[in-house]
Formats: sequence, C-alpha cells, structure tokens
Amino acid sequence: MPRILGIETSCDETAAAVVEDGRRVLANVVLSQVPVHRLYGGVVPELASREHLRGIVPVVRQALEQAGPLRWADLDAIAVTCGPGLAGALLVGLTYAKALALAARLPLLGIHHLEGHLHAVLLEQRRNDRPDPPLPAVALVVSGGHTQLYRVERPNGVFTYRLLGQTRDDAAGEAYDKVAKLLALGYPGGPLLDRLAGLGDAGAVAFGRIRLKGNPLDFSFSGLKTAVLRHVQTHPGLQAGIADRRAAIAALGRAPTLDDWRAHCDQPTLDLIASFQAAVVADLTQRALAAVDDAADAAPIASLWVTGGVAANSALRRSLQAQAERQGLELFAPALALCTDNAAMIATAAFPHFERQEWADASLAAAAQLPLGMNIAS
Ligand code: KG4
Ligand code: ZN
Repeated sequence: MPRILGIETSCDETAAAVVEDGRRVLANVVLSQVPVHRLYGGVVPELASREHLRGIVPVVRQALEQAGPLRWADLDAIAVTCGPGLAGALLVGLTYAKALALAARLPLLGIHHLEGHLHAVLLEQRRNDRPDPPLPAVALVVSGGHTQLYRVERPNGVFTYRLLGQTRDDAAGEAYDKVAKLLALGYPGGPLLDRLAGLGDAGAVAFGRIRLKGNPLDFSFSGLKTAVLRHVQTHPGLQAGIADRRAAIAALGRAPTLDDWRAHCDQPTLDLIASFQAAVVADLTQRALAAVDDAADAAPIASLWVTGGVAANSALRRSLQAQAERQGLELFAPALALCTDNAAMIATAAFPHFERQEWADASLAAAAQLPLGMNIAS
C-alpha cells in the first residue's frame, strides 16, 4: 500500500503528513505560526517564510517519527503544495521536498492547494470507512485566502474541477479577520467571532444582501467589511468599546480566554458580530445552493461539500446542512483539523496523480497564482 509524505507551506502553517493508500492518516503534524503573526493582526509574508525555514525540518521529522517511525525507504512518494499561496512560503516547502526526493530517490508530486482542500472531504469519509461522496458535487472552498465554488466530477476515474464562481475581492475568512481586527478582537478572528456571534442578535444590524453584477456565483465581501466599518464610525458607543477592550486585553498580561473576550464585549458589539456572521453565512449558503440549482440541466448535483478554514464555522455548517437537506442533498465537510491548512489533504490529493505517475521534475516551480483544473504535476 503506497505511502505518501505530504508537505504544505503555502501560508502560515508548516505541515507534514504521511497518508497510506489515500485513506489512512499515519501522521498529521501542523506547526501553526499564529503566535508570530498575531502581533500584526495578519500574516506577514516575510515572517511566514522565515518560520517555515525554521519549522520544516523538525515538522517532517516528527511526521515520520509519528507514522512509524518510518524511514525514507518506507515511503513511495513526496507530495508538495506548489501553489497558490505566498511565493516565499511555498518556496520553502517546495525546495525542501525537491531536495528530499532527490536524496531519497523518491518521485515528487506537485499538488494544488485547493485540490488538497477538496480532497480533505474525501479523506474524512475514507478515514471513517465511509464511501466517497456521490458525484458530481458542488464544493465551496472557504478559507482565509479563498472563496471558490467548484463542480467536482470524476469522468473515467480522473477528478475534474470546474470553477463556477469566486470572490472578486476579500475571501470570507479574510473578512472575518479584518472585522475582528477592526473590533480589537485578536487574530485570527474567525473562530472567536464564530463563538461570540452566538451571544448576539443577528437581526440587530440589517446589512442587506450582497448584490453583484455578472456571474451570480461570484462573491464579494469587501462591501460588507466597509459596512461594518461605517456602522462603527457612526456609533460612538462601539468606538469607545473598542478602545476599552484594547486596553483591558493588553492589561491582562497573558493570552486572553474566551471568557476574557466575552467580558469585554458589550451587547451592541455582540449584536454587530452576530449580524455580520449572519450576512456572511446567508451569502455563502445562498450562492452554494444556487450553484446546485444552476447545474440541474447538466448531470444533477449529488452532494454538497464545504471545506477550508471557514468550513469550521458552526453557523455556516448548520445553514448549509439545513438548505442541502431541503434539496435532498447530503452535506460533506471535513473534521476541524482537516478543514484548516494541513498536509494530510495534500498527500491525499496526490494519490490519483501518484497512480497515474504524474511525476514532477526539477523544473517544478512555486506559483503564487495557480488556477485549478489542469494537470499541474506534469
Ligand atoms: O484554511 P485556513 O487554515 O488557511 C487558509 O488557507 O487561509 O483558513 C484560515 C481562515 C482564517 O481566516 C480564520 O479566521 C478562518 O479560516 N476561520 C474561521 C473559523 N475558523 C477558522 N472563520 C469563521 N469561523 C470559524 N469558526
Ligand atoms: Zn488553505
């Protein structure tokens, strides 16, 4: 049974994993750089590259150790994310993977980061001994860097991905992080806003639907972010709350807990967060389901997938689940650890390419921008 070592360094997680037969996770190590970037309220590309350089060797060693321990001879291939992502960050993983492949005489596979996120859905099924979701599928990939809708099919056993819509400006996770930063609620903002949203009234601030000309399956979150900013600017109470919270959290002298954040959020702030989250969730749900409807005249969609960091959002999962059920569709989503960036998803996505022996050679380059939908490995 083939074993693939996956390496992922496209953004702010240094990750390595060993996956056997595209279904058994022998190790899945993720070194998060959040503590480094938190100070700046967002990912700083130069710092990300530096941290990957520091982390990559121990992280890969730890993955091999946990998986067995395994020796290089126990592996069958090395799969590495080659794009899209931060150029310098990608380069660290790619260069290391190339050197390892050469030294250990293992074949190398270049994997698209979003193909990884999509295959996290498959991995979740397989590692629980469940069958792959029925195809064709509509897949919503929502993370800090991406908001994309794909149609996933597998004609003649080869996975194909058709881009149906994507964000024209901010990704959904980016909007979460920017709103959290505006409200002095730490970094990354998504998980915290998700928890605090449950304490507010989602109907308190009417943000209205996000309207776009052109492709109705495209997304845009920068207008919503600006609407949140306007709302704060026109409500002095909220501004005072932000200043108080910033001072109170800084004065703690330790990492704030959920209770700390809660204690320093007044009701209008919680209502604003709940309303923001409701607007994001409604928009993502509506467009994902519109993509399902849209496809009805081709082969009808058989399953709905959601993956990426924002797929960890409890309200989004509930909303997609409810709407999918109404259409008689099953929703598939990875467990939390496979939603956010990891290398198990990269090793899993590599398996079909491994079977077709789509080896990369020394010319494999890191690509900050890389469309999904072609054979990138050869
Ligand atoms: O997939 P990921 O780990 O990295 C990227 O490829 O971007 O996603 C990270 C993003 C961050 O923007 C974070 O705020 C968001 O996912 N996120 C969430 C939640 N958990 C993580 N957003 C909303 N609700 C959550 N529960
Ligand atoms: Zn990602």
